[in-house]
Amino acid sequence: MKPESLMMSYGYKPELSQGAIKCPIFQTSTFVFKNAEEGKAFFEVAYGLRPQNEGEEMGLIYSRINNPDLEILENRLTLWDEAEECAVFESGMAAITTVLLEFLKPGDLLLISNPVYGGSDHFIKKILPKFGIHIACFSVGQSKEDIIEIVKKSGHADKLAMVYIETPANPTNDLIDIAASKSIAQHFSTSEKEVYLAVDNTYMGPLWQHPLKHGADLVLYSATKYIGGHSDVIAGACLGSKKLMGRIKGLRTFLGNMASPNTGWLLLRSLETLKARMDIQAGNANKVAAFLNNHPAVEKVYFIGNLSEKDGEQFHIKNRQCLTNGGMISFDIKGTEKEAFKFLNALKLIKLAVSLGSTESLAEHPATMTHVDVDKSLREKLSITEKMVRLSIGVEYYEDIIFDINQALEKI
Ligand SMILES: Cc1ncc(COP(=O)(O)O)c(C=O)c1O
Repeated sequence: MKPESLMMSYGYKPELSQGAIKCPIFQTSTFVFKNAEEGKAFFEVAYGLRPQNEGEEMGLIYSRINNPDLEILENRLTLWDEAEECAVFESGMAAITTVLLEFLKPGDLLLISNPVYGGSDHFIKKILPKFGIHIACFSVGQSKEDIIEIVKKSGHADKLAMVYIETPANPTNDLIDIAASKSIAQHFSTSEKEVYLAVDNTYMGPLWQHPLKHGADLVLYSATKYIGGHSDVIAGACLGSKKLMGRIKGLRTFLGNMASPNTGWLLLRSLETLKARMDIQAGNANKVAAFLNNHPAVEKVYFIGNLSEKDGEQFHIKNRQCLTNGGMISFDIKGTEKEAFKFLNALKLIKLAVSLGSTESLAEHPATMTHVDVDKSLREKLSITEKMVRLSIGVEYYEDIIFDINQALEKI
């Protein structure tokens, strides 16, 4: 069955919850063991002291380690990406930072694509170096050979431990080739050390792109975005093989950044409508982009649906990786920050707020908001200028979204 058919039931046994059709919120910090032997067995497995025996179920211990709402949520999330395992976190940043801390140590090199979300950019470039981790960057359009050269020139090629990419990149919709990134990771892998590829797939959500199928070892989400989808919860998720997820869940236990039962419950509810919401959002985005493409006050539209043969490799990457054009559109307004702000301040239906992927359409100004902390010269190089506006397209009737954009553009 398709994942959307299983989002209402997968992994939940009503008989364990008084027949309740929906999984209740298990608002509990700890779980009572039947006897001491059971408690001992659960801890042995949870702490990796021995492998799980054939047919042995991992028992519930303590909500920083596991909880029914979170386990069911994790199991349901694996269906979309066809992953072996999933770990949920209290935010997207918690998922990203836990992965980076688990796979990097002092002296290691991390290779990233530019741009990445402002929060990830801050953690990678300003916090990881404090722990002796070196960073090398590449940008859209650079070939595999160029990128291998960047790693070699860093002087730490033998210490490359992870490749971390975000595609489509926030906010420019630049595409990075996942399979090529994996082959760069493999190029620097040795028999003693495997270089892993992690992909932030937040912009496409679990429906529109499946990085694990293109060679990624780990896929990351801000579940605050499409997965949550209602602007009422902050959460994150990471998916991958049993082996890697075991390490990530281990560090999560000790960092203590597991999501709460209430967050798990909200996300279970959100997952039931994920496909329906995202289908509408992708359809709306195509129509909004078509409108913006023809508006005289708009200088340039950054939308992957606009890519064509003349865009070369970007178009081919899109065809290989992306199942739709997504729900995110950025555009340059004709003018400067003044005109961009005039537009944002004139919106009526679309809310002026950061975040994305929600039922309501949102608009923001990356250069002074989500990406303000990114080095200014890099921002300019990546086209994140003061004339750029980012739109997250919601589920409203598309003509109403377009009406609102049109009336706000008329104000400038
Ligand atoms: C692409 C991307 N990754 C990660 C994050 C961080 O997620 P969270 O805000 O849930 O910590 C965001 C948030 O905007 C994002 O846009």
